[in-house]
Amino acid sequence: MTSFDRMIALKRRIASREAAIGIIGMGYVGLPLALLFSEERFKVTGFDIDARKVETLNAGGSYIVRIPATEIELARQTGFRATADYSQIAQMDVVIVCVPTPLNEYHEPDLSFVSGTMRSIAPHLREGQLIVLESTTYPGTTEEIVAPLLEQGNQAGLRVARDAESSGFYVAFSPEREDPGNDTVARRDIPKVVGGCGPVALEFASAVYSSIFNRTVPVSSPAAAEMTKLLENIYRCVNIALVNELKQLCMRMDIDLFEVIDAAKTKPFGFQAFYPGPGLGGHCIPIDPFYLSWKARQFDFHTRFIELAGEVNSAMPYFVVEHIIEALSQQRKALCGSRILILGMAYKRDIDDLRESPSLTIIELLQKRGATVAYNDPFFPTVGQGRKYALNMTSTPIEKIPEFDCVVIATDHSQYNYQAIVSSAQLVVDTRNATRGIDSEKIVRC
Ligand SMILES: NC(=O)c1ccc[n+]([C@@H]2O[C@H](COP(=O)([O-])OP(=O)(O)OC[C@H]3O[C@@H](n4cnc5c(N)ncnc54)[C@H](O)[C@@H]3O)[C@@H](O)[C@H]2O)c1
Repeated sequence: MTSFDRMIALKRRIASREAAIGIIGMGYVGLPLALLFSEERFKVTGFDIDARKVETLNAGGSYIVRIPATEIELARQTGFRATADYSQIAQMDVVIVCVPTPLNEYHEPDLSFVSGTMRSIAPHLREGQLIVLESTTYPGTTEEIVAPLLEQGNQAGLRVARDAESSGFYVAFSPEREDPGNDTVARRDIPKVVGGCGPVALEFASAVYSSIFNRTVPVSSPAAAEMTKLLENIYRCVNIALVNELKQLCMRMDIDLFEVIDAAKTKPFGFQAFYPGPGLGGHCIPIDPFYLSWKARQFDFHTRFIELAGEVNSAMPYFVVEHIIEALSQQRKALCGSRILILGMAYKRDIDDLRESPSLTIIELLQKRGATVAYNDPFFPTVGQGRKYALNMTSTPIEKIPEFDCVVIATDHSQYNYQAIVSSAQLVVDTRNATRGIDSEKIVRC
């Protein structure tokens, strides 16, 4: 069978929904993707090294707030299963990898999850399979890391098939464009960018994604697809830094930047609104740009916009803490010994994700300065230990607000009643403009 014949056969299997889809990494990206394939009647296997996740999914449960257990149960009825057993990779036609790509303690790309995954799947590869990386990473990862690891790790000596004449397996990159908490665009309607290691891989990957997305956007190489994702996130990172800096200037000039942004966004072209806040959070915007900065050094190039944006954004939690100190001192109180309640641990409104959340940094800074800190977040009854924090705290009931010297609105969850919060609090430091329209001397906006 030539590569071309294999592709025709696989396209047929995709069209008839017989193609077996394996998704590695059942997290915020991988699980929704698995459900999307499942909705389209594909038989999906989710792979994860976290035994708790595998167990929960196989019991029909969910661990992501916005995914109800009923959706998992529905997927299970079309054959969705989770496993930690990599030998099942051999039964898949398509394997999509959605594992974390964090930064290490030196702020450098940590590709250990990606390379670990490739080493695990390589021994089980077979001819004609398609492997797609979705994890955000620097341009070159698919060609320089993924493809070589897959080739080295399989005993059958299979190679990446780069054209219609070659045999082997296919490799592509397709970035995830999930925007947690944003329900304005249906997942299907988000165009899917795809870059393949060769034209057959590109065609193959485009056919797979066309079955669950309304539009695919083919680009000339995996590196172009990798760079596309970074451009999108760097664009956000730089623009958020711009408004964070302008907020500081506007506060000195006694101008309400939120009012200015609202006015500016009435312009029907050439302007997109970004909003200031207490700092960046999430797995993407605070991290991804530095993947490119790191790679750029190999080309003797300094990504100054990224570095500057990083500097401005990472200073924001310190800026918030300064304003808490100032607000308390106006009430003749010192931060040391004060009781502070942080409202919102999630890095943004109405989601259950606290990775890189500025609330974590703000809490750490306040504790270091001698404050007694508690939090409330409807999405996090408890906050234990993460890679960069060890809080081991329990959410404080909102009714206890009067007991605190200061309440800090760090995340503007929509279920909070801001009028009631202001009424019952002694002092409110609002980092999100959530109290807009409420007139009270107790509010300090920063
Ligand atoms: N969360 C988002 O909104 C978002 C948006 C766009 C892109 N991304 C990118 O997608 C990727 C995944 O992000 P996420 O938010 O889903 O991460 P996540 O931490 O929620 O999920 C990753 C999952 O991978 C599993 N895992 C790690 N190593 C594994 C291995 N060797 N084998 C099997 N499973 C393994 C983990 O246990 C975890 O369940 C990252 O590169 C991220 O930058 C995330």
